[in-house]
Amino acid sequence: MIAEKIQNLKNEALSQILKAKSEDELEETRIAYLGRKGQISQILKKIPSLDREERAQAGKIANEAKEAIENALKRAQKQTPAEKKKIEEWFDISAPGIRPPLGHLHLVSQAIEEITAIFAKIGFTRVRYPEVEWDFNAFESLNMQGDQPARDDFETFYIDVPPHQKWGRMLLTPHTSSGQVREMKAHKPPIRMINIGKCYRPNYGVSHTPMFHQFEGLLINKGVHIGHLKGTFDYFAKEFFGPKRKIRLRPFNFPFTEPSFEVDITCGICLGKGCRVCKEGWVELGGAGMVHPVVLKHGGIDSKKYTGYAFGWGVERVMMMKSGLKLPDLRLMYSNDLRFLNQF
Ligand code: DAH
Repeated sequence: MIAEKIQNLKNEALSQILKAKSEDELEETRIAYLGRKGQISQILKKIPSLDREERAQAGKIANEAKEAIENALKRAQKQTPAEKKKIEEWFDISAPGIRPPLGHLHLVSQAIEEITAIFAKIGFTRVRYPEVEWDFNAFESLNMQGDQPARDDFETFYIDVPPHQKWGRMLLTPHTSSGQVREMKAHKPPIRMINIGKCYRPNYGVSHTPMFHQFEGLLINKGVHIGHLKGTFDYFAKEFFGPKRKIRLRPFNFPFTEPSFEVDITCGICLGKGCRVCKEGWVELGGAGMVHPVVLKHGGIDSKKYTGYAFGWGVERVMMMKSGLKLPDLRLMYSNDLRFLNQF
């Protein structure tokens, strides 16, 4: 018992000596262990009262400990600053490593990468356009004039600065369609754009976040027709959702396309037969259509020579449709809670 205690005290003292940063600290260690009231000295005082066998063993160990501590103190006092540094920098190369926590892309970024790659294979280039936009690009050029009811759906965030003479009010882009006319002005046809970005609308609740993502496709060339649009969506549906999925077009109305469609895909559970989840076998992907001649004109493209198609779909939406992930609260996606994010 006593022998073990002495060993422990010795180890403690030696490690303190190694770590000591000054003469004062060395002296403090000496006093704490070997001083008149030091811990080793106290034990040495008790030795004569032990029984004979224990006395011999404890005496030997205590003297060895005392000697070891004294030698270590002497060595430490003689150490040059360079030697001291070397000791401080020493580390045990055989000690097992500490594995740093590894992160991964956010699930929305993962979906964006996948969508980008799918469209890259058929020649679409990913672009990004400003999130702070002018009314002209977000609405006016897309055939959505100020008094049009369609604009009410967007309930846009406006920025409180004086309107631009030509481009109108400043706002946070409510959809990626704002990139259409920008792309037409930046590039001559053929255009194959996939604009993936953040969109903002003042909706907040379990099924809406004020910021979300869309991916906007735009293809403009000579002789583009609805068959091309349909083929592209079929390709995307099979690549992203799986080879058994099919799409269909339903007539709809958007100001910036003519004709316009809503695109549906066969339900992932019943594959189109109809089930409890989808009812009729189809679920909605998003809007699309043939680019309206007015939009082409705003983009400086001759609608007699060129035609095109466009579509704008929600990234979060397609991602949740694909994974079957049902979030009780969509805001979880952007609350930066690692307990949630680590699951993906
Ligand atoms: N911009 C529309 C929205 O956010 C979606 C959309 C519909 C985009 C039809 C398109 C399109 O390019 O052709 O609701």
